[in-house]
Amino acid sequence: MNVPNHIAIILDGNGRWAKKRHMPRTYGHKKGCERLETICDEMKQLGVKYLTVYAFSTENWKRSKEEVDSLMSLFRGYLKKCIKISEKNKMKVRIIGDIRAFDKDIQESILELERFSSQYDELHFQIALNYGSRDEITRAVRHMAKDVKEGRLLPEEIAEETISSYLDTAQIPDPDLMIRTSGELRLSNYLLWQLAYTEFYFTEVPWPDFDYQELIKAIEKYNERDRRYGGVKEE
Ligand code: FPP
Repeated sequence: MNVPNHIAIILDGNGRWAKKRHMPRTYGHKKGCERLETICDEMKQLGVKYLTVYAFSTENWKRSKEEVDSLMSLFRGYLKKCIKISEKNKMKVRIIGDIRAFDKDIQESILELERFSSQYDELHFQIALNYGSRDEITRAVRHMAKDVKEGRLLPEEIAEETISSYLDTAQIPDPDLMIRTSGELRLSNYLLWQLAYTEFYFTEVPWPDFDYQELIKAIEKYNERDRRYGGVKEE
């Protein structure tokens, strides 16, 4: 089996998973968080080198205060546990998104996790927090414009690689496979630049139920695809 080098996932369906069980949405997030604790081990075993997950979008602040507070409390716990997960899997963690919107203690936990895990490179784990692709591109363009204005960048030197290098995902190869759980067929402002040539896999299975078997199913489907990048199909 050809294992994708980089898998990106939209973790969707926690709320519906909980509702089906007559439980509050926050219980679904708790279960989703538990699933996130094990998936890195599976990726490492399979030989996946890069994993990027969409955990909190720039739009998610619009949810009820109760739900946002509960997600923040899950992030607090997870960021601490992730130190152990990083050690176990020799995994470098990077948060993508604009973390300035989070409370100071969360920002500090993020920096501590990134600092601690920077010694590893066997698995690269990106967590998108307060992330939106348009916001990421806007921040990158602003940064590039400033560099042009201050003479560090010449407009005629700007290439696709230059733009990639200004994004939050700088130095991370583009995803080979993007998985979205729970049945919605859209990108929801996720990695719009980076997913240009990526294979998509959509499943009805909600995130808390997306187990190892489901992951293998997604990789098997990926293996059936003919990846051409616009070139001529080989016979
Ligand atoms: C989408 O499900 C999921 C989220 C907005 C949050 C994802 C968060 C987690 C998996 C848990 C915590 C993550 C970390 C990094 C600790 P939804 O609520 O939109 O589900 P629905 O579409 O069924 O309503």
